[in-house]
Amino acid sequence: VCGIDSRSNRLAEEEHVSSTDAIDMQVWESEQLVICRDDAVGLRAVIAIDDTTLGPGLGGVRLAAYGDDAAAIREARRLAAAMTLKNAAAELPFGGAKSVILDRGPIADRRVLMHRFGEFVARSGAYIPGVDMGTTTDDLAAVGAAGVEVSCSEEDPSPWTALGVAAAIRAAVAHVEQRSGVDGVRVLVQGAGHVGGALARDLAADGAEVVVADADAARAAALAREVGGRTVAAEAALTTPCDVLAPCAIARVASPATIDGLRCRIVAGAANDTLADRASADLLAARGIVYVPDFVANAGGVIHIDALRSAAGAERLRADVLRIGARVRELLEEADATGRLPLAVAEERARRRIAEHGRTAAAAERVAA
Ligand code: NAI
Repeated sequence: VCGIDSRSNRLAEEEHVSSTDAIDMQVWESEQLVICRDDAVGLRAVIAIDDTTLGPGLGGVRLAAYGDDAAAIREARRLAAAMTLKNAAAELPFGGAKSVILDRGPIADRRVLMHRFGEFVARSGAYIPGVDMGTTTDDLAAVGAAGVEVSCSEEDPSPWTALGVAAAIRAAVAHVEQRSGVDGVRVLVQGAGHVGGALARDLAADGAEVVVADADAARAAALAREVGGRTVAAEAALTTPCDVLAPCAIARVASPATIDGLRCRIVAGAANDTLADRASADLLAARGIVYVPDFVANAGGVIHIDALRSAAGAERLRADVLRIGARVRELLEEADATGRLPLAVAEERARRRIAEHGRTAAAAERVAA
């Protein structure tokens, strides 16, 4: 298992539905947009390379069905832009990119299709693909066989993602409650999967009171038993009183339709696209709920990829992932000091890093010339 996102096809269905409806195309201008088509193998794909100022665009390959072609393009661009922010916020030497392969029914030969897609990736030379929803390590191996670098290993990134989310939660609790540790803090973990499971174990070991909600009730119960916590029905996840809501299952849990019902002080989790839209960030703030931007909290997976690529040892990787905590503390402090949303502060910090890097690179080029 590898890459930056969940491997669950089931989640894929939920995540792409109408995800782009409210997105203004102009907001998501990409550095490069590649439309790929090969009728011989049934390939229709979009590669969106959002920004390569910091390095090659790192982002997964999503295989999903879309209502129409424009929706696929919008989704690739939007997700690529989110990867730019995630990689920049995590201080990684990567830009942002993402690709989608359109699921148009039965695939005659999946390996051939993926290999052909890899040939298109090879043409751009600025994109490092990884596993995303709907694709597997085997798919990425076929993509890589076309002669491109892929961010793929058999090592599961989820424990690192969970470690980063736990660090984000500890920092947010320290900020909001003015205390250290999570002893007695009630954390509702939505999703008892790879990330949610590891997160629940970590926080419970530190004294947190863990509440688990999962669409798979048996999985939730097993995890709750293991960590000495309790379960609530999946439908009650967003209305159960808790200190921290940790979305680790599906996208867009914080929306204008759900925010009124939330009974938590902090939202910090692993799920990408936790906010349904930007207005949701304002709504959360208006309710006094601190939202830790998903792309800051869940960067453990991409930090893991960087560590594999640079052959950093486990100790350095751990330290790099734990820095997510310091990052969250700083951005919450700046948000308080400036009266802005943590989301706005995090985005601005990421963009500043890109701009500064761009200026330095341009200056170096002038000197070289
Ligand atoms: P997973 O597939 O291992 O676990 C997801 C869990 O959510 C499953 O137990 C599933 O039954 C449950 N679930 C699905 N729909 C639900 C619902 N409506 N209500 C409650 N539970 C529901 O996925 P994984 O790897 O743990 O990832 C979790 C989230 O974190 C996903 O949104 C993923 O995109 C995101 N993420 C994961 C990373 C990783 O390293 N695995 C990295 C960055 C983001």
